[in-house]
Amino acid sequence: MEKEFSMLNGKEIIVGITGGIAAYKTAELVRELTKRGANVHVVMTKNAMEFVTPLTFQTISGNPVVHQMFELFYGSKIGHIALSDIADQMVIVPATANIIGKIANGIADDFLTTMVMATTVPILFVPSMNTKMWESKAVQCNIGKLKENGFEIMEPGTGDLACGTHGKGRLPTIGEILEKMEDIFTKKDLKGERILVTAGPTMEFIDPVRCITNRSSGKMGYAIAKLARRRGAEVILITGKTYLEPPRNDIRIIEITTAYEMREAVLEHYKDCSVIIKTAAVADFRCRAENCQKIKKQEDQDILLLELEKNPDIIGELGRIKEDRILVGFAAETEKLVDHAYDKLKRKKLDLIIANDVSKPGIGFGSDKNEVTIIDKTGYARHVPEKSKDEIADVILDAVKRLLKKKKKER
Ligand code: CTP
Repeated sequence: MEKEFSMLNGKEIIVGITGGIAAYKTAELVRELTKRGANVHVVMTKNAMEFVTPLTFQTISGNPVVHQMFELFYGSKIGHIALSDIADQMVIVPATANIIGKIANGIADDFLTTMVMATTVPILFVPSMNTKMWESKAVQCNIGKLKENGFEIMEPGTGDLACGTHGKGRLPTIGEILEKMEDIFTKKDLKGERILVTAGPTMEFIDPVRCITNRSSGKMGYAIAKLARRRGAEVILITGKTYLEPPRNDIRIIEITTAYEMREAVLEHYKDCSVIIKTAAVADFRCRAENCQKIKKQEDQDILLLELEKNPDIIGELGRIKEDRILVGFAAETEKLVDHAYDKLKRKKLDLIIANDVSKPGIGFGSDKNEVTIIDKTGYARHVPEKSKDEIADVILDAVKRLLKKKKKER
């Protein structure tokens, strides 16, 4: 199985499961963690076993599941000490009001609570419970104590709850939990920067039901937005219509349809940003005529001619007004990749251009992978072989980081 690009790769992760209905969702989390290359050790409380069985987790993780206080596997050391010694991160999911209360108040009466006390690695609590329990003074007071003691806490989501009510208390999605776990391992080397990313296709209307668009999936831009946020930057994502989940819930997302709307949004927000990365596939032309009614075909009509007029070149405009902001463009090419891309960089006054060969099968448009060449103002071209879009995003952000450092030195 190919491992995903992840900070969790090669890490020893302890997943503590406590007795809440959301315990069944933890199976999916363990599966995703192993897919990202983590070695997962599951520890279950007695109450967790009322909801799910150790066999499920042993099968998915490939490791024995600990559920009794005095188990002696993991070598000769006593179980909880041995496990907490090898761990890189611990996550408790779902975290019930009971486990929150116990750990906040120093109670260690089973394997999980004892292990939490014996470890110095980051510990993430993912609470899930009924809304009234979550909002109760006792739970909120205990959450406050956990935060004070340096534990990481995720806010529960809002929605339908297993008890038949609607409100705050849902387990965050598995994607959100994984992202938080990645976050904990990631160096915040872009902290203090505000990065604007554009992504996806624009759409130009022919009439109220038809449009001109392109095959951009938005994946590359969403990956850059996610990784930039993970590395500590504040991120604004201006995006055309995609079928992707928001990359994170702490990114400001502005949805647009046409190139003109994208231009307006970019011009409104670029001033507060130190870096602008334009991955969006902007339509170069739009329909000249505004057809307010659906165009009807004539009986003997074989051809329909559309008159198109040029859209604003957003990145070109930014190149003229960017001052000392870093401006990164993308170039989708089918031939003379480096020459055409470098020419665009110079014409549009960019600091970096990321060129990709869209004629190559299996990469680029719609794919989860990409292969790019990063070209800077001196014409230096660095080829980055085929990798996941997350990995490519990280390499691009490394190049941006180097430029930021250089600019700061020059000031
Ligand atoms: N771009 C833009 N506004 C446009 C067209 C493109 O901001 N109206 C940006 C894209 O987001 C990308 C870069 O310009 O970062 C390059 O886009 P591309 O369409 O490849 O460049 P063009 O200059 O339009 O060149 P050509 O279509 O001739 O390849």
